Amino acid sequence: AEGLHTPNFPFQHASTFGTFDHASIRRGYQVFREVCAACHNTEFVRWRDLIDVAFTEDEVKAMAAEFEYEAGPDDAGEMFMRPGTPADPLPKVYANEQAARAMNNGAYPPDLSLITKARHNGANYVFSLLTGYYDAPEGVEIREGLHFNPYFPGGAIAMARSLYDGLVEYEDGTPATTSQMAKDVVTFLNWASEPELDDRKRRGTQVLIIFSILTAISIYLKRNRFISLKT
Ligand code: HEM
Repeated sequence: AEGLHTPNFPFQHASTFGTFDHASIRRGYQVFREVCAACHNTEFVRWRDLIDVAFTEDEVKAMAAEFEYEAGPDDAGEMFMRPGTPADPLPKVYANEQAARAMNNGAYPPDLSLITKARHNGANYVFSLLTGYYDAPEGVEIREGLHFNPYFPGGAIAMARSLYDGLVEYEDGTPATTSQMAKDVVTFLNWASEPELDDRKRRGTQVLIIFSILTAISIYLKRNRFISLKT
């Protein structure tokens, strides 16, 4: 069965000329780091991608350096570690799908780097999913280890509800309600899937402006040129 159809939420970047809400990307990264990153990989995002998008270069350097990366075996064959740099990808939770399933009762938490592209109605779907945990209706049996969620195809998902009011503390003072955190983390994930969106929207606007001007000029010139024939 397909999941329940999701409403369209007014994400700023979803409107015709709208670009990303970067304060929301920043808060969303925090939610991702403190909550989702315990279980989900984001293999296609590099630390440096966040520079000037949601964090300063110094902030990103410090964030990357908090994680350790394998730097290769030393002379004795022992793996040694080094702190992360902006060129590294965000740290991996699992080496591969098998390891991921082993740690999640057989279910596979998908990589989230492209999730808003990979799922139908991406951002709206993920928002609905994160805020869509309810008691199962009368008569609906949910298997042990699964959770009722009408937006997930089949209605029973292995991921438990992970967002609760007040779960994180935002540095900008935004109240961390469940829906606020869902909105922010979805904005972050949508940016990860489509980092070029801002450029695309800006260029589109420029193209519209330039073509409007060219059209106006050509109408003016045409009238000017044919004016003698009109009289
Ligand atoms: C599945 C997002 C936190 C474990 C998913 C899916 C999304 C998602 C979009 C895919 C649903 C689909 O296939 O259509 C998130 C976000 C999180 C988060 C944004 C943070 C707010 C977590 C946490 C855990 C977890 C903390 C582990 C404790 C899983 C598992 C699945 C899954 C096991 C596979 C579910 C299934 O196939 O039944 N998650 N997740 N997730 N997530 Fe999460």
